[in-house]
Amino acid sequence: MSSHGDPIPMIARKSAGLKGEAHVPGDKSISHRSLILGAMAVGETKVTGLLEGQDVLDTAKAMRAFGAEVEKRGNTWHVHGVGVGGFAEPGNVIDCGNSGTGVRLIMGAMATTPITATFTGDASLNSRPMARVTDPLALFGARAYGRKGGRLPMTIVGAEAAIPVRYATPVPSAQVKSAVLLAGLNAPGETVVIEREATRDHSERMLTGFGAQVRTEDSPEGRVITLVGQPELKPQTIIVPRDPSSAAFPVCAALITEGSDVLVPNIGLNPTRAGLFFTLQEMGADLTFENMREEGGEPVADLRAKFSPDLKGIEVPAERAASMIDEYPVLSVVAAFASGKTHMPGVKELRVKESDRIDAMATGLRLNGVEVDEGEDWWTVHGRGFGDVPGGATAQSHLDHRIAMSFMVMGLATEAPVRVDDGGPIATSFPIFERLMTTLGADLGREA
Ligand code: S3P
Repeated sequence: MSSHGDPIPMIARKSAGLKGEAHVPGDKSISHRSLILGAMAVGETKVTGLLEGQDVLDTAKAMRAFGAEVEKRGNTWHVHGVGVGGFAEPGNVIDCGNSGTGVRLIMGAMATTPITATFTGDASLNSRPMARVTDPLALFGARAYGRKGGRLPMTIVGAEAAIPVRYATPVPSAQVKSAVLLAGLNAPGETVVIEREATRDHSERMLTGFGAQVRTEDSPEGRVITLVGQPELKPQTIIVPRDPSSAAFPVCAALITEGSDVLVPNIGLNPTRAGLFFTLQEMGADLTFENMREEGGEPVADLRAKFSPDLKGIEVPAERAASMIDEYPVLSVVAAFASGKTHMPGVKELRVKESDRIDAMATGLRLNGVEVDEGEDWWTVHGRGFGDVPGGATAQSHLDHRIAMSFMVMGLATEAPVRVDDGGPIATSFPIFERLMTTLGADLGREA
């Protein structure tokens, strides 16, 4: 089932060269944060380029429920914030749909205000672990009442008098880090998060942009991020860069589709997000960064990807995992078209995403004729080389947008078409995926 209706079966067939420009939507991580920080500032934040995928729309709705005004006029989203500590108690349950980022960041943002809110989501979100967020929120004085195993639906009772926290994240997660920093906004004194491996730093950058004092230092323990609590956040004008995690799909499709030459303009290349592109270059991909520049505090470039028939399997360094965590599904597809093995260690977190992504990809790849080995925190794809990947089977998307899009990319270069049982979840992060890919010349779409 898709998260918002009947399943949408999709099919992708072998395609001739993809050509043209791929204007992918705004960055999902930055879009969520623009709305949440906009809602916590005093005055009107303006956001253009916001991703209008279901995940972000659910966050917009949640911010309204907490008392912020959020509306779109023309191409601009206007967020009238209520200030740090100014959230009102929502009159109903907050439904975050499919979005782990949405629910975890919002829980953090409300946990140090003395209000109560109940959160739920779709079947995927309601099976994902929330203790990783509620454990540190409890240190601030918030209480959480959820289902067994710390699952949604869950009620958070915000702290009456929050105390600041020093917290070392036990898993590499920007969502956990961000939830703690957002909670720290309404605690007095300094809140400190320590992460062993650097994860995406959009929260730190944006908090600084909104006028909060945030310091990041590297220490033997890892990255130490210190936030000074109870700032007055100043409204901002935000231009959301395009999403590197969405760019990954047309880029990877171009690499494995004969005769392709695709330009993906204006892609956010924050080093905490760009691991996939370096990995692809190491595999021998004809991938270049053009026009490198900085926009809105984030590094940006235009990516050009060309058909690359001689890709080689590689060992992906475990320490790179955090910077490409959402890209392993589509990387595993590219790896199937490379010669030799691609080994991907240090990726336990893939098992608790919108689906168990190692299991979902390994099962679908095997059905489509690709050998995959896996362990709890690693997997290996045995590449068959270009022109020798059978395809012909239906993969299950498990309510996971990136699984659905990865198999659609795969089918563009397999011998027989590849199907997914449900492409509905694609709308959570990349609602124009089908139109954009077909405009480039990809033969994919809904099955009658
Ligand atoms: C995100 C962090 C990552 C990523 C997700 C977006 C964010 O999750 O997978 O798509 O915006 O902070 P984790 O923090 O669980 O690694």
